[in-house]
Amino acid sequence: MEMVDDDGLTRTGTVWTATTHAITAVIGSGVLALPWSVAQMGWVFGPLALVACAYVTYYTAILLCDCYRTPDPVKGRRNHTYMDVVRSCLGPRDVFICAIAQYVMLWGTMIGYTIVASTSMMSVERSNCVHKHGHGADCRASGNLYMIIFGVAEIVLSQCPSLEKVTFISVVAAVMSVAYSLIGLGLCAGKFASHRAARGTVSGVKVGGVGGVSATTKTWHSFQALGNIAFAYTYSMLLVEIQDTLKSSPPENQTMKRASLYGIGVTAIFYISLGCVGYAAFGNDAPGNVLTGFYEPFWLVDIANVAVLVHLVGAYQVYGQPIYAKYEEWLAKKWPHAGFIHKLYTVPLPFSKSHSFKFTLCKLLLRTVFVALTTLIAMMLPFFNAIMGLLGSVAFWPLTVYFPVTIYISQANVKRGERRWLALQGLSAVALLVSLLAAVGSVADIAQRLKHVALFKSEL
Ligand SMILES: *[C@@H]1O[C@H](CO)[C@@H](O)[C@H](O)[C@H]1NC(C)=O
Repeated sequence: MEMVDDDGLTRTGTVWTATTHAITAVIGSGVLALPWSVAQMGWVFGPLALVACAYVTYYTAILLCDCYRTPDPVKGRRNHTYMDVVRSCLGPRDVFICAIAQYVMLWGTMIGYTIVASTSMMSVERSNCVHKHGHGADCRASGNLYMIIFGVAEIVLSQCPSLEKVTFISVVAAVMSVAYSLIGLGLCAGKFASHRAARGTVSGVKVGGVGGVSATTKTWHSFQALGNIAFAYTYSMLLVEIQDTLKSSPPENQTMKRASLYGIGVTAIFYISLGCVGYAAFGNDAPGNVLTGFYEPFWLVDIANVAVLVHLVGAYQVYGQPIYAKYEEWLAKKWPHAGFIHKLYTVPLPFSKSHSFKFTLCKLLLRTVFVALTTLIAMMLPFFNAIMGLLGSVAFWPLTVYFPVTIYISQANVKRGERRWLALQGLSAVALLVSLLAAVGSVADIAQRLKHVALFKSEL
């Protein structure tokens, strides 16, 4: 018998479906940067950062679980998204900041995905070339063409509405991300086993001397690594939506707390393994994207890189479509009679009588321009770790710590000056510092690189 909820919807989610959603939603292309991130910080601070970030993510997730229903965590009214929770608990200024942070995340992720996708294609080209011609051959690959190909594919996909809601695509994406993460871990373990001794040093990448970097580079890279790790754990943005799929007995907040424990626990164990095994395998030379560090077995490297590509082709739209929807809604309200925005054109599709392609000029043009612009920025700044570091800094303090903490304080009536209030504000202050450092490290690194590399030069 199906139970109908208080708002007329039927929800069937359990702690296991929620845990699965959480794991597949969190584990994504962020994992590729983990060995590099540990290498920047070394054997002490690297693993520590992986653990601390998991703990903070878990702690704030628990706070957020009690804010799905307000004012009472069990009997109150539901909110369906993170943004709705912010709107119902905080003021207009916070709603505005939250919206900005979310859209910056979405757009930045599209830029990041363009870079990763092209790196994966370059990596396939290079590993096949090395396999054919040997290690001495000149197997450099260039990324711009691949970025353009990826951008054109996304321009076409952008015209399909609600692509992000197709279950098949999200299942494929989840399978792909699990596949390349596990292959990545397997390849690292194999490389580590081949030389037996664990590489790497206590303090990570060396400053000065042979193979060392300058002290400023080391500083920027360590900060950036924090951002990369924070990006890999981004979860709270999705929590409310996952909680909204749960059935209402036992109470959603209890189920979701357990699901967050399992989900973040599994993710953390996986991240710590990959970060540490990857670092032990490569030592301080760990590549920014771990999959670019392997040549053999070339078929397995290729499978992993193709899995990344397939994942990102679909995931790109998950980030893009909400942005298109937002500005199209705004334009439609602003000009309710403009033909450019409202006139619907219908083109019959050649092989199907029942379907046709419907579009407005606004969608056709603006989505194309938007994706083209995103591709252009990715081509100008093809710096994987720096972009991930920036995204992590946007994700960590505002979305992972500040909003959950502030919402909880207002929701649970924590009084200013109380012990708990001080502890929560202290956590928020530390997180703010981490986010600022990650942002500064990433921007400084981008500036430093642009001094040495010409624009539009993406090579592997
Ligand atoms: C969110 O919760 C608040 C407080 O219970 C409620 O007033 C509001 O209507 C909810 N928003 C949505 C979109 O359901």
